[in-house]
Amino acid sequence: MAKKYNWAILGCGKIARKFSNDLKLLPNANLYAAASRSLKNAKDFANELGYEKAFGSYQEMVNDPDVDIVYIATPHSFHLEHTLLCLNHKKAVLCEKAFAMNSKEVKKMISASKENNTFLMEAFWTIFQPQFLKMNEIVKSKELGDLKFIKSDFMFNAEFDPNKRLYNIDLGAGSLLDIGIYPIFTSLFFLGKPFKIKTIANIRSTGVEDSITMLFGYKNGAMSVLTSSFESSCKNETELCFENGFIKVERKLAEPILMNKNGSDQFVDYDTISGEGYELEASHVMECLDNDLIESPVLPLSFSLDLMEILDAVRKDAGIIFPNHD
Ligand SMILES: NC(=O)c1ccc[n+]([C@@H]2O[C@H](COP(=O)([O-])OP(=O)(O)OC[C@H]3O[C@@H](n4cnc5c(N)ncnc54)[C@H](OP(=O)(O)O)[C@@H]3O)[C@@H](O)[C@H]2O)c1
Repeated sequence: MAKKYNWAILGCGKIARKFSNDLKLLPNANLYAAASRSLKNAKDFANELGYEKAFGSYQEMVNDPDVDIVYIATPHSFHLEHTLLCLNHKKAVLCEKAFAMNSKEVKKMISASKENNTFLMEAFWTIFQPQFLKMNEIVKSKELGDLKFIKSDFMFNAEFDPNKRLYNIDLGAGSLLDIGIYPIFTSLFFLGKPFKIKTIANIRSTGVEDSITMLFGYKNGAMSVLTSSFESSCKNETELCFENGFIKVERKLAEPILMNKNGSDQFVDYDTISGEGYELEASHVMECLDNDLIESPVLPLSFSLDLMEILDAVRKDAGIIFPNHD
C-alpha cells in the first residue's frame, strides 16, 4: 500500500488555498497542518480546507515530528528563510515560485537540501501540466522542424497598491518574478540558457517594475520575445515557431493546442485533469519521496538555479533592484 504523507502549509494565503483543494484529490496526501503567523488565520484555514492541526507560527509547525512535507506559499522574499527553516528540521519542501529573490539565495537552499539530505523542489507547476507535456512532445518529435522562435506573454491588470504583494518591494514585487517568470521558464525549457539578453522595463517611482519586455538570443540563431505586465491585459499566449509551422497555446489550461503545419491548422488535444493542476506537482513530490530522492528528476534544482540566473541577468539589464536582497 502506498505510504501516506502528512502535508503542512506554510503561509495560508491565496495560492495555498488553491493548492490545498487539489491536494484533497490525492489519496496518499493527508491534509495535516496549516501554519500561519496568526493562530486565528491558521484555524480558519484549517477548518475551511480540512487540515487536522493549526499552528500560530511556522516554527511550531516544523517542530511537529509528524509533518512530512511542507508547501511554502509565502511571498518570494521569504522563500529562502522558510525553506531553510523546514530543511533544517528535515521536512521535505515544495516551495512556490519564484524560488527565491536571486541565485545566491537559491544556492543556499540547494546546499541546505544536500546538507540535510532532505527533498527540495520549486513549485513550478507548469512542467507537470498535460498541455505543456504535449507541447514538449511536438517539439521533440521535430514534426514541424527545428524550433526557431518563442513568443510568450503573461499580463493582467493589477491595481497599484504598494502594500500588496504584487507592488510591495519588500515582498519581491514586480511582474518579472511573479508572472514574467513563466515566459522565461518556457524559453529556458525549450531553448536553454540565452547568451544575449536585452530588456525594456517600466519602473515606478517606488522602485517596482510593473511591465517588462525581454529579448533572448541563442547561439544557434533562435530567439525569444517575452513580456509580462501588471498594467494591461492580453490573450496570454505562447507561440513556438518552427521551420515548417507553429504551435500556439493560451495560458488557460483547458484550451487545445493550435498546430499549424505547412500552412494548415489543426487542434491537438491532451489529457484532462481533475483538479486545477497543483495536484500533479504534489503527487510528483510524493513519488520522489517514495523513491528516497532528495531532488526531482523532472524539475532538478539545477534547472531552478538556471531559471534564477536568467532572472538575475534580466534584472541587471533592466535595472530592477531589490534593496534587501541584492
Ligand atoms: N504556482 C502558482 O500558480 C502561483 C500562483 C500565485 C502565487 N504563487 C506564488 O505563491 C507565493 C504566494 O502568493 P499568494 O498570491 O498566495 O500570496 P498571498 O495571498 O499574499 O499569501 C502569502 C502568505 O504568506 C504569508 N506571509 C508571511 N509573511 C508575510 C508578509 N510579510 N507579508 C505578507 N504575507 C506574508 C501570509 O500567510 P500567513 O498570514 O498565514 O502567515 C500570506 O497569506 C508567491 O511566491 C507567488 O509567486 C504561485
